[in-house]
Amino acid sequence: MKQQILTEYEVLSPEELTAKEQELVELAKKATYRSYAPYRNFRVGAAILLDNDEIVCGANQENVAFPSGTCAERTACFYAHAQYPEARFKTIAIAARGVDGEPLAEPISPCGACRQSLLQYELLAGHDVEVLLVGRTKILRLPSIRTLLPFAFTTL
Ligand code: THU
Repeated sequence: MKQQILTEYEVLSPEELTAKEQELVELAKKATYRSYAPYRNFRVGAAILLDNDEIVCGANQENVAFPSGTCAERTACFYAHAQYPEARFKTIAIAARGVDGEPLAEPISPCGACRQSLLQYELLAGHDVEVLLVGRTKILRLPSIRTLLPFAFTTL
């Protein structure tokens, strides 16, 4: 029996987002300026809205011993849960600037390790965590982290 998994997402302009989503997008963009990326010069920012109304941001942090650095999404999600262990994630926005320092026209999507890390907090929340992938004039809105990671490993 054949089965299919469908990935549903919306393609929106920034004005079509809610005010709170727009705020989150702006904070993700701002966070790219706190990226430490001396090796790849690719700057990523993430902003997570929590259910206590706090917003926690992160940016990629590279290291000379290459695998020791982390992506923006993991910086943000680990920091958020370490700072507010009782709070649950509601929305994450992810933005990036390329090697020319300009915001990317096309949104980027989190790497596999970040998807798995973020999924942990969606499962912990017990509800969907919305994802906003931010391009220069185009936003992709996904309903959940799980949408990004079909067939995820979990024992939760
Ligand atoms: N990076 C992120 O921070 N998030 C992603 O979703 C993909 C990649 C970082 C890792 C590295 O510092 C740089 O962007 C490009 O490899």
